[in-house]
Amino acid sequence: MSLDPVNIIRQPASAKPFVSISPLFTMTSGNNFHGMIAMVTGGGSGIGRAVCQILARDGARVSVCDVNLQAALETVASLEHQGDHVAFYMDVTDKNSVCNALSATQEKLRGTPTLLVNSAGIVQRTRFLEMSEETFMEVIDVNLKGTFLVSQAVCNAMIERDVARKGSVVNIASLAGKNGLAMKSGYAATKGAVMALTKSCAKELAKTGIRVNCVLPGAIRTPMLALSPEEHVKEGLKTNPLGRAGEPEEVAEVVAFLLSGKSSYMSGTDVEVTGGHGF
Ligand SMILES: NC(=O)c1ccc[n+]([C@@H]2O[C@H](COP(=O)([O-])OP(=O)(O)OC[C@H]3O[C@@H](n4cnc5c(N)ncnc54)[C@H](O)[C@@H]3O)[C@@H](O)[C@H]2O)c1
Repeated sequence: MSLDPVNIIRQPASAKPFVSISPLFTMTSGNNFHGMIAMVTGGGSGIGRAVCQILARDGARVSVCDVNLQAALETVASLEHQGDHVAFYMDVTDKNSVCNALSATQEKLRGTPTLLVNSAGIVQRTRFLEMSEETFMEVIDVNLKGTFLVSQAVCNAMIERDVARKGSVVNIASLAGKNGLAMKSGYAATKGAVMALTKSCAKELAKTGIRVNCVLPGAIRTPMLALSPEEHVKEGLKTNPLGRAGEPEEVAEVVAFLLSGKSSYMSGTDVEVTGGHGF
């Protein structure tokens, strides 16, 4: 069936606009994560927190990890099925910290995570020509090295404990990693690298049963987006087909799908969650 634009023009003036509000509030449970353990980095805020909430809603026991322990504890307090979840301090740039949080998760939740979401991230807004080496390395440390350290530790644990066949990893990259972003060149470079890391791990780990995918969010309403100047965000959204920023839950639902058995034939992919357009 072909789409006939004339039909759209003929909609009566009283018809509701085809996009008005976020569909969030009609979203319902749809994944079965009962008996599964999930680890979410950056779980104290934004997209990571929404992922924790959706995984808990759908039955997973969640280890909420963040460099901001207070924020991670607040996430745990917001989750369904209280008592099933734990919060741990984790600095994703520090291998010891990653290993400690993983061991503590295994002990407290009596098992090894088979679901992993790498959402911890930082962004810097700096002109490329003036960016210091320290600034460049800092964003690489958190966004890229952090994804590497956590993925390596958790995937090795899955293999050692013989649960890798159930394994699913989702990395939160960004549309910036595909398209680039002025004033955020270091950030965009890390996200492009996370996309490549995702595809490489997917190929290498396939034989273990672990699937690895990533999502590329556009502008999502979180504390991170609030760091960008409002005029810049408004300007970017002018050409967004859906005409608005996304909500963290709209990314989290896609993450949950990629973690679940519903996406069992997907690995190494990058799924855009952008409203049809990025900056
Ligand atoms: N919000 C957006 O518009 C957007 C768009 C594309 C991609 N992303 C990506 O989504 C992910 C989540 O971003 P968000 O918007 O939810 O941001 P956010 O700032 O709300 O949350 C990021 C979380 O990461 C944690 N974190 C930072 N450094 C850490 C470290 N060293 N170790 C452990 N935790 C650390 C923070 O404490 C925070 O809780 C990031 O990777 C970000 O790059 C966000």
